[in-house]
Amino acid sequence: MMSVRRDRHAPNGIEGTLNADGERRHRVGRFEGKTAVVTGGSSGIGFATAKMLAREGARVLIHGRREETVKEALTQLPPGTHAVVGRIERLADIDALMETVRRELGGLDILVLSAGVLKVATLDSVTEDDFDEIFGVNVKAVFFCVQRAAPLLNKGSSVILISSGAAELGRVGRGLYAASKAATRQLARSLAAELVHKGVRVNAVSPGPTLTRLNMVATRSKEEQAVFLGKMVPLGRVGMPEDIAHAIMFLASDEASFILGAELAVDGGWRQLGEVPPPAQK
Ligand SMILES: NC(=O)c1ccc[n+]([C@@H]2O[C@H](COP(=O)([O-])OP(=O)(O)OC[C@H]3O[C@@H](n4cnc5c(N)ncnc54)[C@H](OP(=O)(O)O)[C@@H]3O)[C@@H](O)[C@H]2O)c1
Repeated sequence: MMSVRRDRHAPNGIEGTLNADGERRHRVGRFEGKTAVVTGGSSGIGFATAKMLAREGARVLIHGRREETVKEALTQLPPGTHAVVGRIERLADIDALMETVRRELGGLDILVLSAGVLKVATLDSVTEDDFDEIFGVNVKAVFFCVQRAAPLLNKGSSVILISSGAAELGRVGRGLYAASKAATRQLARSLAAELVHKGVRVNAVSPGPTLTRLNMVATRSKEEQAVFLGKMVPLGRVGMPEDIAHAIMFLASDEASFILGAELAVDGGWRQLGEVPPPAQK
């Protein structure tokens, strides 16, 4: 477990711009003055979310498993962005993450729990290690991150869990992943109930097929995988990490202040329309 930080070039870590008089001004955005933590913030949906939050003014801390991907992500985030490397399923690492949050950010307004793993294995081939990793990262870590973050969450803060449309499907080889994501969706309800008295909202986003490292197939190029996944989606294209990040931003914002314990599907119609409908007959 280690902590990484880029050099600060701005006092609050937000990139400044120069106005006509040469004075440094900071970008004003929806999340100006807010603090945010994004687990899985080094890749895919989490990384896209971290970039958007920072662009809209939040002071951001990303968490990821591998030091090299975290360092690479930091090069594309504003100076002053914090990062912590660790195994999110380990309670000691979660505690170390929250201690860094307390020390560097003070409190927390936005918590996005995007770290997740997908393993495709049929019933006869799933191992105990597979089970423990999938439920460790996708369920245990979500629960304990919220438990350990709770004392740091400010009134009016927003916690966003990432479930999946896959939670509603029985598919060969993906049973454990689907069960873990169904648990995540349920945690959004029960954790919302636990924290509503503190003025904290917990909600879930359920992406459909999205072009990230999680579901890349080694034998296919990124372009081929985009076409493959896009064919599953009624809207006719694969989701991009930014499509999901936009929904997370909405749930994190005050515009979603009446939304609690809910699930927002962001899937191009994948779980809403079922099979991709055939082209209309003329
Ligand atoms: N992509 C999809 O089609 C899709 C669809 C529905 C739901 N989702 C969900 O969306 C979330 C984000 O996934 P993604 O598609 O953006 O995948 P991704 O690009 O593979 O990102 C996964 C992130 O989780 C981190 N992570 C994995 N295991 C970890 C561990 N043990 N400890 C700490 N960090 C760990 C990874 O860190 P490293 O990079 O350092 O390994 C990475 O930052 C996941 O919860 C996933 O289940 C994805």
